[in-house]
Amino acid sequence: MFTVAPATRIDARAARTPAQDQIAVALLGLGQVGSAVARLALESCPGMQLPVRITGALVRDLHRPRPTGNRVPLTAAGDELLDGAPDVVVEVLGGLEPARTLVLRALGRGIPVVTANKSLLAVHGDELFTAAAETRTPLRYEAAVLAGVPFLGTFTRRPLAASLASLCGVVNGTTNFILTEMSAGRAYPDALAEAQRRGFAEPDPSNDVLGVDAAQKLAVLLRHFAHCSVKPEQIETTGIGGLCARDLDQAAVLGGALKPIIAADWTGHDLSAFAGPAFVAASHSLARIDGVQNAIVLGGAPGGDLLFAGPGAGPVATAATILDDVVEATEQPKPQKTVEAHRTRGAVPAAPLTGWFIRLTGNTLPVAPDVADLLSARGVWLRRVSDDDGRDGRATRWLVAHPCDRGRIEAALAAVRTAAACDAHWIRALEERA
Ligand SMILES: NC(=O)c1ccc[n+]([C@@H]2O[C@H](COP(=O)([O-])OP(=O)(O)OC[C@H]3O[C@@H](n4cnc5c(N)ncnc54)[C@H](OP(=O)(O)O)[C@@H]3O)[C@@H](O)[C@H]2O)c1
Repeated sequence: MFTVAPATRIDARAARTPAQDQIAVALLGLGQVGSAVARLALESCPGMQLPVRITGALVRDLHRPRPTGNRVPLTAAGDELLDGAPDVVVEVLGGLEPARTLVLRALGRGIPVVTANKSLLAVHGDELFTAAAETRTPLRYEAAVLAGVPFLGTFTRRPLAASLASLCGVVNGTTNFILTEMSAGRAYPDALAEAQRRGFAEPDPSNDVLGVDAAQKLAVLLRHFAHCSVKPEQIETTGIGGLCARDLDQAAVLGGALKPIIAADWTGHDLSAFAGPAFVAASHSLARIDGVQNAIVLGGAPGGDLLFAGPGAGPVATAATILDDVVEATEQPKPQKTVEAHRTRGAVPAAPLTGWFIRLTGNTLPVAPDVADLLSARGVWLRRVSDDDGRDGRATRWLVAHPCDRGRIEAALAAVRTAAACDAHWIRALEERA
């Protein structure tokens, strides 16, 4: 049980009694995650070796009732919290400003920062990591990707894992929930409404359903995985809006599932990456990641692929990871005064070589062997073909093609469109993995 002495003025070090080993934490933000951090620190914190004391929290609205009652002093002035010289600043404001300015100020004063803000890291990462290196101050962000699963630390602590060449995962719980619901028969608007009702989707879900959130997380991951500084907009990104419930049905008929995927390959020189919905065969470990669960697979380890899975969001899971980071930030030796060599790149070249999940729709469609001939003449080979589905008075057929590059599939499908007077919609298909 940890308690916070009521403070009239936010001054972490002055209030640091009786236990000198308490970690004084200033919270930037007391929303869903900030409140969960405060409650874990105030009420119980299983597994924490050191007590954490919340010195105060930055909020917009000083008068709104808070789940932490009056146990956490509130302020609308972030600098007031920094002036109190806390041991660690936890940034859970979200968005870019004032988060960027306050994190830079904290680092400038040598105060370790823990953040869960992937947008901030994806957009201003170079500036923040440079500031952290120059002031030799820890900047930790384990909760920014796979919130409740300690994963990023694997890259820094496990040299073998850090040297693996392929990564794929499901890192957006909102879209994974929506696609899971659609695969159980719900239409997209109903699945989205259910996600919003259960607090898994924002009132404005654009960042999730357009793939922006996944691309931001992938950009954060690429710093570790490929030592590259990549902006989210440089990554091929597709939203889930083009999918319909029948795509999910047919994916199951074709022996797999549709999942919101991120994937990257890194040769040591060349990087390829994408974020978007993809077909994954039922035997792939990501096919079993349902609902709001998240997972990452690191491919190519000597004994087989490594799977990291667990809660990818949720205030309590995120807060537990943040508190682990808080403890590590205070125990961590001062980082080297060198900015890690993150090569800045232009647009990330073509996504990894993947297969393709294709939907053809028209008034009539050629028989399956004729479609296969049209595609194979252009170097695209089919792995699976569903039966013609004549619902809605339109002929529809779904295909899974073997891996080929994007230019080739686009050219082949353009030829099919012309020859068969049909529409073609495609997404990527991951190679099977045990
Ligand atoms: N929610 C999750 O499950 C989850 C999981 C992983 C990572 N994250 C990340 O954690 C961060 C916080 O998420 P959240 O869900 O806790 O957000 P949230 O509920 O919207 O909370 C944001 C908090 O920041 C305060 N705030 C925002 N802008 C401010 C400003 N300009 N000045 C002062 N205070 C300001 C808000 O004050 P008021 O309370 O007065 O409005 C609120 O207390 C985000 O970066 C998010 O991506 C969240």
